[in-house]
Amino acid sequence: AKLLVIHGPNLNLLGEREPGIYGRTSLAAIDRALKGDAESHGHMLESLQSNAEHVLVDRLHAARGDGTDFIIINPAGLTHTSVVLRDAIAAVGLPFIEVHLSNPHAREAFRRQSYFSDLAMGVICGFGADSYRFAMEAALTWLDKRAA
Ligand code: DQA
Repeated sequence: AKLLVIHGPNLNLLGEREPGIYGRTSLAAIDRALKGDAESHGHMLESLQSNAEHVLVDRLHAARGDGTDFIIINPAGLTHTSVVLRDAIAAVGLPFIEVHLSNPHAREAFRRQSYFSDLAMGVICGFGADSYRFAMEAALTWLDKRAA
């Protein structure tokens, strides 16, 4: 199967940005680990990070016709603001898991609102870089069951 990982704004600074909240692991290290996980199970994985909302929207639109089976997305700050990105992922109609490094429910009140959670297959947050690993495990389990 083909998995798509989408990282929203500011996540390019991972490892350097507020490490007390987001940890010291770089985005490149996270993407490398996810790719390794997917490939060891016989899947393909592509990752994209962008600080531009329209780039994320365009990538999601492309997923409609490029054979993508599953999406893992950390919309970052757009989680709490973007009707646009929500509409894009709804239009794609593919199963997805929403991921956050931090636990947005334990932070400022404005982070409790997500435009994605009610559409997501599930939400994993609060485990730092491991949130992505757990999301990948859930995705692999789902893909295995689908294939069975
Ligand atoms: C985040 C949480 C968001 O509230 C924040 O705006 C981010 C990162 C996380 O992964 O913890 O940029 O999505």
